[in-house]
Amino acid sequence: MNTSGVLVVGSANMDMVVVCEEFPKPGETILGRQFGMFAGGKGANQAVCSAKLGGDTFFVGKMGNDIFREKLSQNMKSDGVRLDYLLIDNAEPTGIALITVNGYGQNEIVVVSGSNMKLTPEDINSHEKAFLEAGVVITQLEIPLKTVMETARISKKHGAVFILNPAPATRLPDELLRLTDYITPNEIELEMLSGIPVSDAGSATTAAKRLIDKGVKNVVVTLGSKGALLVNRDRSEIFTAREVDVVDSTAAGDAFNGALAFAISEGKTIDEAIRFANIVASYSVTKLGAQTSMPTMDEIKAVKML
Ligand code: RIB
Repeated sequence: MNTSGVLVVGSANMDMVVVCEEFPKPGETILGRQFGMFAGGKGANQAVCSAKLGGDTFFVGKMGNDIFREKLSQNMKSDGVRLDYLLIDNAEPTGIALITVNGYGQNEIVVVSGSNMKLTPEDINSHEKAFLEAGVVITQLEIPLKTVMETARISKKHGAVFILNPAPATRLPDELLRLTDYITPNEIELEMLSGIPVSDAGSATTAAKRLIDKGVKNVVVTLGSKGALLVNRDRSEIFTAREVDVVDSTAAGDAFNGALAFAISEGKTIDEAIRFANIVASYSVTKLGAQTSMPTMDEIKAVKML
């Protein structure tokens, strides 16, 4: 059996995106510039990213029995994600996200999880077959924590590399950290996970070491335009990102994670994988939307990023 695939266990959302000059203040009404609906959700975004780069990518997630599932699953399929293991919940609607993007490309996101939070540990168990094909398994925190735990346990049982993208931020049990080969927090998530204030590379390294002490093998902190920081037992190193004109930073973290998972599944070293993930993430912020902003390998080559 081929075990070089990337298995993504996670969420799918329909993103409703408005673009405006400045974020509105509480109680304020403003006029926006643009509105669009885009396929999103951290899990689906990471799966689409890996698949568009050429990875054999499959997705375990739960969508509602509604029009958004039809749109999202069509989109994922046409981007090359295998949906053999997609589950449907007849009671809850598919997840949605309300996203505001300001004139600087920054975003504010509110997610209503719907069916994503109905993905159970039993669902993961009943799809154990998917793990047999996976060299790398990646998940995030837009599904129940107990489901994330089960995903980690089954990944390790079958010898897959387990990557945890701890977004959105929450505290995590030590058992989960011990099962994690790579954890990929941003600075806010790292602060929450470690309990240490993070304001610069030095404090990020100290906070990341706290997670290493708890049993995570590698911490890869995403630093936005500053790139990424790798911390493990042997070393701590910053990998800088290239400068680009930012249109929309939504899903830059997902681009980084999807590309990291893909590169590791291709047998790249962690240094090579982080450099590649930085490039893919910097490409993604030059386009509006989540999955629409994920590049193919040809697109990356065309803009001479590689
Ligand atoms: O990381 C970006 C994603 O977060 C969006 O696509 C939105 O759906 C939320 O899940």
